[in-house]
Amino acid sequence: MNSHQLLKGKKGIIFGALDENSIAWQVALKAHEQGAQFVLSNAPVALRKKDIFQLAELTNSQVISADVTQVSELEDLFAETMRLLDGKLDFILHSVGMSPNVRKSIPYEDLNYDYMMKTLDVSAISLHKMLSVAKRMDVINDWGSVVALTYIASQRTFSSYSDMAQAKAVLESIVRQFGYHYGRSNNVRINSISQSPTKTTAGTGVSGFNSFYYYAHDMSPLGNADAMACADYCITLFSDYTRMVTMQNLYHDGGFSSMGISNKLIEQYEQCFDPTRED
Ligand code: NAI
Repeated sequence: MNSHQLLKGKKGIIFGALDENSIAWQVALKAHEQGAQFVLSNAPVALRKKDIFQLAELTNSQVISADVTQVSELEDLFAETMRLLDGKLDFILHSVGMSPNVRKSIPYEDLNYDYMMKTLDVSAISLHKMLSVAKRMDVINDWGSVVALTYIASQRTFSSYSDMAQAKAVLESIVRQFGYHYGRSNNVRINSISQSPTKTTAGTGVSGFNSFYYYAHDMSPLGNADAMACADYCITLFSDYTRMVTMQNLYHDGGFSSMGISNKLIEQYEQCFDPTRED
């Protein structure tokens, strides 16, 4: 896609680029292409993977580590970012998620509750912490934009999504409620993008990911949205063309969320249908 310099003069922080498959990685590439300046941030443990420094070179940006569950690290990050970028921010991407229960394949009915608290803290409450620190430190310019990534399992049951479903429901609720407060005080808009299954480290960690992926692809009239398309959508939300959009959960899923069943899935189901079945 051509650069229209939609983000020329805008400054931001992009959380969550782990490697080139990460959604945040694609957002960083597009934001750079569209003229933005930004800092890349990720957890200290993720920086050990080193890929993010390659992205920093490609996008002429700096990397600052922060564990999003630690308020003091977020305070330091925001202060250092405003110093490096010489001013307040116009956009923040929250592209962060992790569930120890999912990682350790613990069955949903037997969740480890310490792990569940970690899931909620990293994947949802971290957005509240970011927004709270940003508001207190007056980090975001008027009409700035914050985007968080979510998944439809917040609204419907996807049997193996485990406690990440609760985390996404909390995340979307924070988007709505903080969207009110930050909108009233500073005209800052806050939205979540509900993205198609995408082949990333976080995505493929969910058990049965390939079935999620191909089922959604065959259900959706446009097929699954990939990370690059998601990045395009993020750019529009950071731009001045969406100034009155806030407190929304926006589906970016090729039409999946409006479907019941598709002809493709009917055909596939019929192929494995048992003709002797009587119930
Ligand atoms: P990813 O694994 O590339 O990104 C997740 C990021 O979260 C990683 O960079 C990781 O280091 C970071 N992270 C984990 N704990 C952290 C902490 N304590 N502090 C700071 N950062 C931390 O995977 P992906 O898919 O790009 O995930 C980004 C977002 O997109 C997540 O919120 C995910 O739930 C969401 N999403 C992903 C979908 C998929 O199928 N991949 C579908 C819909 C939403």
